[in-house]
Amino acid sequence: MLQFKLVLLGDSSVGKSSIVYRFVKDSFDEFRESTIGAAFLSQTIKISGSNGSSGELGDTVIKFEIWDTAGQERYKSLAPMYYRNANAALVVYDVTQQDSLIKAQSWVNELKNKVGDEDLVICLVGNKVDLCDDDENKRVVESREAQDYAQEQGLLFYEVSAKTGFGVRKIFESIGEKLYET
Ligand code: GTP
Ligand code: MG
Repeated sequence: MLQFKLVLLGDSSVGKSSIVYRFVKDSFDEFRESTIGAAFLSQTIKISGSNGSSGELGDTVIKFEIWDTAGQERYKSLAPMYYRNANAALVVYDVTQQDSLIKAQSWVNELKNKVGDEDLVICLVGNKVDLCDDDENKRVVESREAQDYAQEQGLLFYEVSAKTGFGVRKIFESIGEKLYET
């Protein structure tokens, strides 16, 4: 079993805790309370890849130790404690809030300056895509804009919905695969 430390960063109310709860407990709460300080959860997944020297395909178990940080400004100074020594970071924004993408970009800059991206897999995550229905579309951040930015910065990128669960597992699977390869 491989073990990796993963941290979530991003503005308050973008849905960091909701993404973690969807992944760990497969549940969603419309009235989730804002995180105080940080919360710790863990979850394992199986990925398939080549297994040791035999080169045969098999399942590898990956355990994520997840630090869900608080996005409120007053907790900002705690973040380095959680991203230090992290193997992966999910930098989350809300596709219905333009400011949240700007905040996410400033987290990416901070991670690159303080941790360095050789050692850290960074994934940009646009949450709340369930609010982008055709009849009442609240989207303000276009996929293309975020995807171009992610590509330019060498980040993984996914759009997800913690509410419906869309895309959430995929984030952790692709981070797991990327960490496993390196
Ligand atoms: P902080 O802990 O303050 O940093 O916020 P957070 O990023 O952890 O956000 P949280 O998960 O608490 O979610 C904030 C609000 O957005 C809650 O009311 C959630 O129910 C709602 N929410 C989270 N994810 C989604 C989503 O995918 N779709 C919709 N429609 N609402 C969501
Ligand atoms: Mg939270």
